[in-house]
Amino acid sequence: MNLHAFLIDKFKAALAAIGAPADAQAPLSRSTRPEFGDYQFNGAMALAKALREKPRDIAEKIVAAVELEGIAEKLEIAGPGFINVHLSPAWLAKQLAGAAADARLGIAEESVKTVVVDYSSPNLAKEMHVGHLRTTIIGDAVVKALEFMGHKVIRQNHMGDWGTQFGMLLAHLSDKLANSEVAETALSDLEVFYREAKVRFDEEEGFADRAREYVVKLQGGDAQCLALWEQFIDVSIAHSEEVYEKLNVTLTREDIRGESAYNDDLANVIADLKAAGIAVEDQGAQVVFIQELADKEGNPAVYIVQKSGGGYLYSTTDLAAMRYRSRQLQADRTLILTDARQALHFKQTEIVGRKAGFIQPEQTYEHCPFGMMLGADGKPFKTRTGGTVKLVELLDEAVERAEALIGQRESDLTAEEQKQVARKVGIGAVKYADLSKNRTTDYMFNWDTMLSFEGNTAPYLQYAYTRVQSIFRKAGVDAAVLQAEIRIEATQEKTLATKLLQFVEAINQVTAEATPHVLCTYLYDLASAFMSFYEACPMLKDGVDEADKNSRLMLANLTARTLKSGLDLLGIETMEKM
Ligand code: ARG
Repeated sequence: MNLHAFLIDKFKAALAAIGAPADAQAPLSRSTRPEFGDYQFNGAMALAKALREKPRDIAEKIVAAVELEGIAEKLEIAGPGFINVHLSPAWLAKQLAGAAADARLGIAEESVKTVVVDYSSPNLAKEMHVGHLRTTIIGDAVVKALEFMGHKVIRQNHMGDWGTQFGMLLAHLSDKLANSEVAETALSDLEVFYREAKVRFDEEEGFADRAREYVVKLQGGDAQCLALWEQFIDVSIAHSEEVYEKLNVTLTREDIRGESAYNDDLANVIADLKAAGIAVEDQGAQVVFIQELADKEGNPAVYIVQKSGGGYLYSTTDLAAMRYRSRQLQADRTLILTDARQALHFKQTEIVGRKAGFIQPEQTYEHCPFGMMLGADGKPFKTRTGGTVKLVELLDEAVERAEALIGQRESDLTAEEQKQVARKVGIGAVKYADLSKNRTTDYMFNWDTMLSFEGNTAPYLQYAYTRVQSIFRKAGVDAAVLQAEIRIEATQEKTLATKLLQFVEAINQVTAEATPHVLCTYLYDLASAFMSFYEACPMLKDGVDEADKNSRLMLANLTARTLKSGLDLLGIETMEKM
């Protein structure tokens, strides 16, 4: 159950009962300190204004009307008219018992929506670089959270697999193959390959013309040229798959629907836009003048959908994709994850697409932008020599660094186990560092903070999880079969209990806003609440009452299960020992 939503409903009913207008708000927030209870209702002040009564009088009426018998042990009016809700420990214990007995921790699925998530979407002409890290892992976390809540998710890897740059790449590739090289070897380093082709394009007599010929042939559907293109794409996709595998993300080949998939529809898109009078000719090109995004002088924004030479653009493909997702995939929601620099493009695309009826009013088109990953110098993340950082290399370095760290710690793990742990910690650290930041802002990449066992990091959470496992090993209790009554007595127990029940609130926010950092913050708070509980409420010390011990073990196990489930949604692995 979503506690927050449940309480809001209770307050809404109370507002109706005291004769509040139908549109009266029921704002409820989580309390920041235990003294203020668990939740705080802040709606009395605004309502008092509307009804011209004293806020505290209204608050008293709400308190009298709200039906929280047996749920809250105390409702207290504070300050100008805040209502602090102190949940009943016995009620909390009952909820937790329900969660403990359920494989889904008591979290029910939502009513199903079809959600298209467009993420990762690298350009196949080049190697995946750090710019694709954020979209790939944020997207994958959002997808997993949506699926967990029961939605039908359709992943769309909108890979950049088409465009004029393929002319020079294919011309270069065909020369290499003619020299009896194999495609895999020739393309083993896409960066190098791209650079070679570019140099030839700029400097070699006749090469640029050949490259242009290839473009024309490719677009004309020339069989030999297409076969070459397919070979190129295939090897490049394999490079991406290597990254996905290392990153533990769920994307597969079936999720790829690259830009080229829309080629046959682009002429239709233009024809439809023209027929509807939305696109008009301007200096030989087809453009849409967007009045809604006019500048200060009133000049409309110009959105080009076809170049004067007849060529199509990124925008044309995105309009075709929008229509496909709306009509064929029947998406209730479309989420697109790219860096913030593309925000204007998607805003314009949405305006144009809606005008053209490519998407229905009840279907959403949600661009979810994110900021840049910065180096220690505050500038976009680069290699020491100023090159783009290849993702594969970054991930390998993460694992190496984790190996060195783990090697320094005392442990009874075998060398092979240590290796596995290092992989999970290293990859987990990189992913978590990214996922835990509010996605809309830039963030600084820092090896030391992300690999630290303290603070809001993957290693800290993974460690908290292993800590519970070691408690169970010491206690000689099998967590899977443990069944005991949960009693909530100490403040730390209550804080932990409430936190545990708020898991679904965090997930709901992730699915609604595509913000995995909310889940990270939640897990970090949960782990911290557990650590305070662990200090204050001993389990295995001599003299601890058996019933207390078992109740606390139940809480510890619920904490571990919630951490594991939350980290799993984030695509971060856990281990039994560290
Ligand atoms: N390939 C693009 C890039 O690397 C991202 C594509 C995002 N999706 C879309 N429908 N435009 O920047």
